[in-house]
Amino acid sequence: MSEALVEITGLTKDFGQTRAVDNASFAIRRGETFGLVGESGSGKSTIASMLLCLTKPTAGEIFFHGKRIDQLSTRELAPYRKDMQLVMQDPISSLNRRKKVQDIIGLPLALHHGLPGGKRTDRIVQLLELVGLSADYLSRYPHELSGGQCQRVSIARSLSINPEFLVLDESVSAVDVLIQAQILNLLNNLQDEFGLTYLFVSHDLAVVRYMCDRIAVMQAGRILEVSDRDDIFSPRAHEYTRALIAASPASLAAKASTTPPLQMEKSP
Ligand SMILES: Nc1ncnc2c1ncn2[C@@H]1O[C@H](COP(=O)(O)OP(=O)(O)OP(=O)(O)O)[C@@H](O)[C@H]1O
Ligand SMILES: [Mg+2]
Repeated sequence: MSEALVEITGLTKDFGQTRAVDNASFAIRRGETFGLVGESGSGKSTIASMLLCLTKPTAGEIFFHGKRIDQLSTRELAPYRKDMQLVMQDPISSLNRRKKVQDIIGLPLALHHGLPGGKRTDRIVQLLELVGLSADYLSRYPHELSGGQCQRVSIARSLSINPEFLVLDESVSAVDVLIQAQILNLLNNLQDEFGLTYLFVSHDLAVVRYMCDRIAVMQAGRILEVSDRDDIFSPRAHEYTRALIAASPASLAAKASTTPPLQMEKSP
């Protein structure tokens, strides 16, 4: 229990008549990448939002470092807020298009650290370098960046206040595969360097397999199973998990390229 950084028990969320999350429980260990997969609408983002205390659960409990946080007031929550950051689903549209990179990254620093101007710029340059960008980008606007560079800026912004826990919700699906691979490697390097813990939410099972130590599979608001990566991608996995993997684009592509065309014609 002591190794759990984040734990949820019996977490439930109703939106009117819709039960978006139904009695979900799991624990995320410190330093691991925990994957959350499942079809669209299965409740992944709702769980992520409750974990970050942005959505109030209908029932259940959320623990951070063993302390219950789901019932805290806004003021009591403040010290926890900076330890957990969200990296947006679509960083390109989530970056404020009227603000320069230095102001986008500098805003959380100003809010949480109150760093004075000069020190803040030093820190912003340091953050840019951390995500593979140079000081040249300080005065650029989002529309002057590529999709991958927007993601790097978004990651820099999330890291600016030294969080322990990052929630990455589909944060690499908006860019092409090569850029995606670079961002994933960047995330892995940052995790090693700073001992970060990730909740990685995605449809893309190939990416989840590459990134995650353990994976929770969701269907219609329920957690069907939580297993080590190798068990999820094995015949031991839950029937639904195997169906999900079989239906993923990577599996379909692999199947198409290994099935001899003649054999396909012979089937009845
Ligand atoms: N603010 C809201 N108000 C009403 N219903 C909501 C709200 N947010 C989510 N839902 C509903 O809750 C269910 C779960 O949504 P959620 O966004 O968590 O799914 P998801 O697994 O993240 O899907 P996707 O993979 O498409 O992002 C859906 O039926 C959705 O319509
Ligand atoms: Mg979602």
